[in-house]
Amino acid sequence: MAELAVNIDHIATLREARGGIEPDPVTAALLAELHGAVGIVCHLREDRRHVNDRDVRMLRETVQTKLDLEMAATEEIIGIALEIIPELVTIVPEKREELTTEGGLNVAADIRYYTTLVQRMHEKDIEVSFFIEPSTTQIEAVIETGADIIELHTGTYANARTAHDVQLQLARIAEAAQYAHESGLRVTAGHGLNYVNVAPVVSIPQIVEVSIGHALISRAVIVGMERAVRDMAALVRGV
Ligand code: PXP
Repeated sequence: MAELAVNIDHIATLREARGGIEPDPVTAALLAELHGAVGIVCHLREDRRHVNDRDVRMLRETVQTKLDLEMAATEEIIGIALEIIPELVTIVPEKREELTTEGGLNVAADIRYYTTLVQRMHEKDIEVSFFIEPSTTQIEAVIETGADIIELHTGTYANARTAHDVQLQLARIAEAAQYAHESGLRVTAGHGLNYVNVAPVVSIPQIVEVSIGHALISRAVIVGMERAVRDMAALVRGV
């Protein structure tokens, strides 16, 4: 059975639309936990376009499940992670001009750099997840770094428009999940998942968690955090 981690970035996006103090992502995180999230995810971007340093520090103090800090592997953000010590960091590629994370990280391109990063995080008991495409090359690179977890990028699956392509993308994810699991990695998934497309992903037995933001926060705007989180948690758990 898979579990739900809630990404609260877009609560902060709404706050930043006016540059004020509401809505507060910290409040949203607490509600998400109350209603079934097993983890809170936030992406501290270089440009601080949504979640900011204050949010991350307050989340560190208040999140009781686990805090997953999504981050680019830059020295500035690495320093913040080593200081606040989330349970987990998820390393993602980051481009200033992108609307959201585009594609998985190319871990294979710099295994030595990422291995050092994993060692630095492990020294502080921070687990490391790499957000990657469902590719054997990337999984093998992650194994070499000594990381704990892979998060499989589900964006291509979510954007697939024909039944054939949907099945193709699901098969890629399932195959990667099985290979990574057999190699000793924990396997999670995320990006572009919503109330309609999440079920086939969480039915892949090796996927133990999904990270969901945009669709869940969009629904919460209409029906409230409680219902949005409960309904998604039920879908993810398959109950
Ligand atoms: N996982 C990762 C690594 C991400 O970068 C994002 C987007 O911030 C998500 C999951 C959540 O994606 P979405 O907002 O489309 O649910």
